[in-house]
Amino acid sequence: MNPIFCAFDTPDRTAARGLAASLSGDIGGIKLGLEFFMAEGPAGVREVAAAGELPIFLDVKLHDIPNTVAGAVKSILPLMPSLVTIHTSGGPAMMEAAAKAAQEAGGDRPKLIGVTVLTSLDDADLKAVGVTRPSTEQVVALATLAKDCGLDGAVCSPLEVAALRAACGPDFTLVVPGIRPAGGDVGDQKRVLTPREALDAGADILVIGRPITQASDPAAAAAAINQEIGAR
Ligand code: C5P
Repeated sequence: MNPIFCAFDTPDRTAARGLAASLSGDIGGIKLGLEFFMAEGPAGVREVAAAGELPIFLDVKLHDIPNTVAGAVKSILPLMPSLVTIHTSGGPAMMEAAAKAAQEAGGDRPKLIGVTVLTSLDDADLKAVGVTRPSTEQVVALATLAKDCGLDGAVCSPLEVAALRAACGPDFTLVVPGIRPAGGDVGDQKRVLTPREALDAGADILVIGRPITQASDPAAAAAAINQEIGAR
């Protein structure tokens, strides 16, 4: 399977549909986030999925009381996303309720991917919300809890991949943003690995946005990354 999920950070379905059609065959899936979902909703998601004939990663970062999150997961199931994100800081009961709701989809159920500590938070930010241990310890603790509660994987920064692979085992799906092709523009990402380095460290899914979407020829940019990692 091609490990590249391209982040379409746009609120516009026409742009997303065009990009999906042009990248079909060069990527493994499409990540759509809240910016898109709030603007275009489930109908927009269906259109983009159909245009690219590709799996969809719905990065909607669910976080609420267990009953509400379980309801949101059930509402998402008809879209048949392959991955859905959920905040692990919502706690064990919330994650267990989400996992139970996802199981209703049977074999086609989406993988539930836990968000641990947002990479926009540093240790001082964590302290401000009452978390006193270092962020790496918090990430490993939350990912381990997520696994125990029935989640399928976690989002993590490139530099956390090895620690989470060791803590959560070979079957836990590690979804990794902050990827930059060798020699590429880093932009606002601070902790980056190349696609090859991230896979070698144990990443399962590479989330890559601007290096593909902002390239003058997105399909060629994706093809070059495939070549770099030896994917088809
Ligand atoms: O354009 P770029 O490759 O930086 O996009 C990365 C994608 O991954 C964006 O959609 C961004 O919101 C997301 N992301 C991230 N870092 C995280 C979690 C998600 O860059 N820690």
